[in-house]
Amino acid sequence: MQVVTTPELADRYLMQTGRRLPVTFVRGRGCVLYDDAGREYLDLVAGIAVNLLGHAHPDVVAAITRQSAELIHTSNLYFTQPQVELARRLVELSFPSRVFFCNSGAEANESAIKLARKWGTRNRDGAFEIITTTGSFHGRTLATVTAGGQHKYSDPFKPLPDGFVHVPYNDTKAIEEATTDKTVAVMLEPVMGEIGVIPAAPGYLRRIREWCDAKNLLLILDEVQTGLGRTGRWFAHQHAGITPDVMTLAKGLGGGMPIGACLANQRADVFEPGDHGSTFGGNPLACAVAATVLHVIERDGLVGHAAEMGDLLGASLRDLGAKSTRGAGLMQAFEFEDPRAKAFQQSCLEAGLVVNAVDDHSVRLVPPLIVTAKEIDRAHEVMRKVAG
Ligand SMILES: Cc1ncc(COP(=O)(O)O)c(C=O)c1O
Repeated sequence: MQVVTTPELADRYLMQTGRRLPVTFVRGRGCVLYDDAGREYLDLVAGIAVNLLGHAHPDVVAAITRQSAELIHTSNLYFTQPQVELARRLVELSFPSRVFFCNSGAEANESAIKLARKWGTRNRDGAFEIITTTGSFHGRTLATVTAGGQHKYSDPFKPLPDGFVHVPYNDTKAIEEATTDKTVAVMLEPVMGEIGVIPAAPGYLRRIREWCDAKNLLLILDEVQTGLGRTGRWFAHQHAGITPDVMTLAKGLGGGMPIGACLANQRADVFEPGDHGSTFGGNPLACAVAATVLHVIERDGLVGHAAEMGDLLGASLRDLGAKSTRGAGLMQAFEFEDPRAKAFQQSCLEAGLVVNAVDDHSVRLVPPLIVTAKEIDRAHEVMRKVAG
């Protein structure tokens, strides 16, 4: 069936929740996307840090084909092999914990928030407040959009749920001062992604871990964007040599299949039967594909490769005339002095390069982990020409 999509049709039938760029992608291979006119684009956005193995990776395609022919969905009324196997691998790669599976980053964080509140009821005399940071992004459900420290996303939906306190990022003292008897947890991104790639300052995560230990608080790390090799370690907190009590994942986990996960150590794992659930969460198809993604990342040494390519990509951004560049591994951004990020994004697209303007000034690059040095060179050439 040949379907023609036009911006007018999309406007007619889709809710207007975001502005789309004027392109319709129909196919992808590796780090390359093709539009409906057969034009080729080098993709440095990867579905917003999702397609870790690029597009149409043969192992992902094979896993989808194999598992969909066996069993796609049963609900969580029963055991399934892919779900238990994926949980086992995630725990082996991260820290001693148990896993709750869901379908997105927002849901993973919603699970973490519920866990923290129940933990507070049990262990901190009903404490329920979670300290998060200004500029953070944790999802779009009512609780997670409130947790995220960006008023533009939450204000239209007031009244918002109680229990979230926002402090500046990379400011340990602000967390200490915001802690009260009502505080139950600190929830952070190890690198703030959506706001434009702001890495944690050296020592920040370690000091917050120590503060949480000293004050009997949970440390929740949102690794939805930073997890699974993106920053050059399996999980970004591993750079800091700490472990969280709760960690959330989504985005890259399914290599493009929707899946989220919330991992909790023994201390934080307070869910009991009936407390939480998700019909689709952890279905055999998503879990089998995610297990394949982990297997390929490991087999092909993609965590080390991401660190290496991240250094190359980061270095290649320094002659674009930007005010600043920043990043960790294959999560990089640069900021223009003047408000030309959106025009830059559009010109790159016209030149066959997909980049992501997060606002008027900053451009984010989160390519697939399989990106090559040659592709980074090609991207750099386009960006330099466009930057002028
Ligand atoms: C750090 C972080 N947490 C949570 C989310 C929300 O994930 P989802 O869009 O899958 O709900 C995002 C999405 O950008 C994110 O970057």
